[in-house]
Amino acid sequence: MRTRVGIIGGGPAGLLLARLLHRAGIDCVVLESRTQEYVEQRQRAGMLEQGTVDALHEAGAAERLQAEGLVHQGIELRFDRERHHIDFPALTGGRTVTIYAQTEIVKDLVALQLADGPPLLFEAEALAVEKPESDAPVVRFLHEGREQTLTCDWVAGCDGFHGISRDAFPADVGRSYAHDYPYSWLGVLAEVPPSCDELIYARGERGFALHSMRSPSVSRLYLQVPGDTDPDDWSDDRIWDELAARFAIDGDWTLHRGPITSKSVTAMRSYVHEPMRHGRLLLAGDAAHIVPPTGAKGLNLAVSDVRVLARALTALYRTGDTQLLDRYSELCLQRVWQATRFSDDMTRMLHAQPNGDAFDDRMQLARLRRITASRHAAAELAANYSGLPLPV
Ligand code: FAD
Ligand code: DHB
Repeated sequence: MRTRVGIIGGGPAGLLLARLLHRAGIDCVVLESRTQEYVEQRQRAGMLEQGTVDALHEAGAAERLQAEGLVHQGIELRFDRERHHIDFPALTGGRTVTIYAQTEIVKDLVALQLADGPPLLFEAEALAVEKPESDAPVVRFLHEGREQTLTCDWVAGCDGFHGISRDAFPADVGRSYAHDYPYSWLGVLAEVPPSCDELIYARGERGFALHSMRSPSVSRLYLQVPGDTDPDDWSDDRIWDELAARFAIDGDWTLHRGPITSKSVTAMRSYVHEPMRHGRLLLAGDAAHIVPPTGAKGLNLAVSDVRVLARALTALYRTGDTQLLDRYSELCLQRVWQATRFSDDMTRMLHAQPNGDAFDDRMQLARLRRITASRHAAAELAANYSGLPLPV
């Protein structure tokens, strides 16, 4: 098989890139190792920056998002049994965020791709990217029981953190930076209307908790738990009791309880691979970087990489201009490091430190108090949370 752009991975990054290239008239093929059902059910992110919503509009994939997405004007910070609203439009000149699940974005993009898009092969596992330094890199992959090859002008490695694209960088070309946090998140989905109108980030001595949502009838909640937690050790009652204790305030507020339909534990890690390009292989999304989820940057970063990449490839095929492609890694990494910093700050400010002392405790509270007391500090949080501008 031959194509212009071979895309490894049918997660949000790969699928969105395929749509943007298709609309620009650039032919591509997407290889996804899992089944369609699996990628459409994988529970992950849910908070979209304005720029991510814009990108889905640009890709012609925002019809359902427009109808069903929940536009939020800010977030709530809870600590010391008090609640504080951070008003994004007032602090950012009108920016908002939208709640719409990653599962739904993937379903929308898959449906469009299968209807009129270039090929999207499920159960097609990429094994290796060969000759990335040449003019015709090759992806070796396994599909329908036999090994096949996809020869490309360019390869987009959108295969997530555990993919194979990064392996094609020679050891002396790449460098990675990583940090593991000493706790995890237990995430649950519950069939119950959210107990809030906007997301609640709660800090307390028992640990961090986040109240999010998927729709007016489905809540998404997270609890900070120790790294080695088995979700089966957490009964529904134990989860609800712990959430109620961590969200408790002085004043009226009730956490609505309901049936929990899914439970999983996610490790917390920062990781950045530099550079994001080697020859004609370009990494995008989790294949190049991951952030701890506090602040919801993972999916949004994957989308901003892909916007830059789609613009760079479109410029190349329309006019032969390689300037954006040449600067791809540098442009993306500026934003990646800012999102990594923001996610790290939010994580450290809101989680109970397993070996923390009373001083660390006071520092967290001082940071939170500064945000709620100073318009400048709140505006800095709002600007980062609602999304920094795209570098192009
Ligand atoms: P992925 O979504 O990982 O997609 C990569 C795709 O490549 C997958 O479909 C995979 O099956 C496929 N693939 C892998 N290897 C191969 C191969 N060899 N050949 C072919 N295909 C391959 N972010 C938030 O903002 N908030 C959250 O609450 C949140 N929760 C998360 C929970 C979990 C468990 C994880 C893992 C991530 C979470 N994230 C969250 C991060 C966010 O979901 C990711 O940043 C986002 O999915 C990145 O999209 P992507 O397309 O780059 O990678
Ligand atoms: C969600 C996840 C996050 O990590 C976050 O900061 C906000 C929302 C979510 O899954 O809805």
